[in-house]
Amino acid sequence: MDLGLQDKKVVILGGSRGIGRYAAEAFIDEGAHIAFCARGAEGVASAEKEMSGRSHAVRVFGQAVDLEDGDATRGFIRSAEEALGGIDVLIHNASGFGMANNEQDWRRSFEVDIMAGVRAVDEALSALQASGAGSIVFIGSMASKFHFGRPESPYGAAKAAIRAYANELAQNYGRDGIRANVISPGAVWFPGGRWDERKKASPEFYAQVEKGIPLGRLGTGEELARIIVFTASPAGLWLNATHLAADGGQVATVD
Ligand SMILES: NC(=O)c1ccc[n+]([C@@H]2O[C@H](COP(=O)([O-])OP(=O)(O)OC[C@H]3O[C@@H](n4cnc5c(N)ncnc54)[C@H](OP(=O)(O)O)[C@@H]3O)[C@@H](O)[C@H]2O)c1
Repeated sequence: MDLGLQDKKVVILGGSRGIGRYAAEAFIDEGAHIAFCARGAEGVASAEKEMSGRSHAVRVFGQAVDLEDGDATRGFIRSAEEALGGIDVLIHNASGFGMANNEQDWRRSFEVDIMAGVRAVDEALSALQASGAGSIVFIGSMASKFHFGRPESPYGAAKAAIRAYANELAQNYGRDGIRANVISPGAVWFPGGRWDERKKASPEFYAQVEKGIPLGRLGTGEELARIIVFTASPAGLWLNATHLAADGGQVATVD
């Protein structure tokens, strides 16, 4: 199947490592040009170099940006549009991972999970309208619909807010050819990631989580990337205003 991503211009908020990086590489393999940001300048520089080496046919642009900084976020979107010559796809992947019920974590979650997405959409809107294949994907979490037994925190609440916002974008900008969807991963393992750390810290807990997933293991970065790339691509056109649970059946509900 041709996903229709050849020469499409993709912007990823949080793309130097983890799920965002796997997605960036999968987009590159489909012939798409990539602009991404992350806080760590070293991580951005090495990711930019490695991804540029993956295909000489595409442009890869990386910038060190903290998405808690509104002006920097808007500036990144403008630089990305200039570097790529437009924007067809916007992926908001980064999270503040606010797991503590305190002011600092609530504020960081609000800025990174919600406001960075709002600012990026606002700044990218005219380019997405001009695209003809405009597509916005937010990376959510199953914590937006399921209580995993943790103490209350901003994480799931911020991810849930994005679901309502994505639906409003889909309803308001569909006429401009722009789609908006949310993909919520369950537990995803990749080297150096959060679940890799948990596996090392507590193999018993990790094994228990694996046992609770019908497929008997956690998802991988590559598996999530394929779902993100398909949803964002012109081939995924009839996915719109959707919340996609990409959790391998980890959360045992009907919808
Ligand atoms: N991994 C899982 O099991 C899982 C499960 C459910 C949902 N998710 C969701 O999937 C998304 C990606 O998760 P992940 O596990 O791949 O995360 P990750 O490994 O921590 O990677 C996050 C990426 O975003 C960048 N980033 C983080 N905070 C940023 C900020 N304030 N400004 C700019 N860039 C920032 C990071 O680089 P720097 O640190 O250098 O900034 C990195 O490139 C998140 O939205 C998360 O909630 C993940």
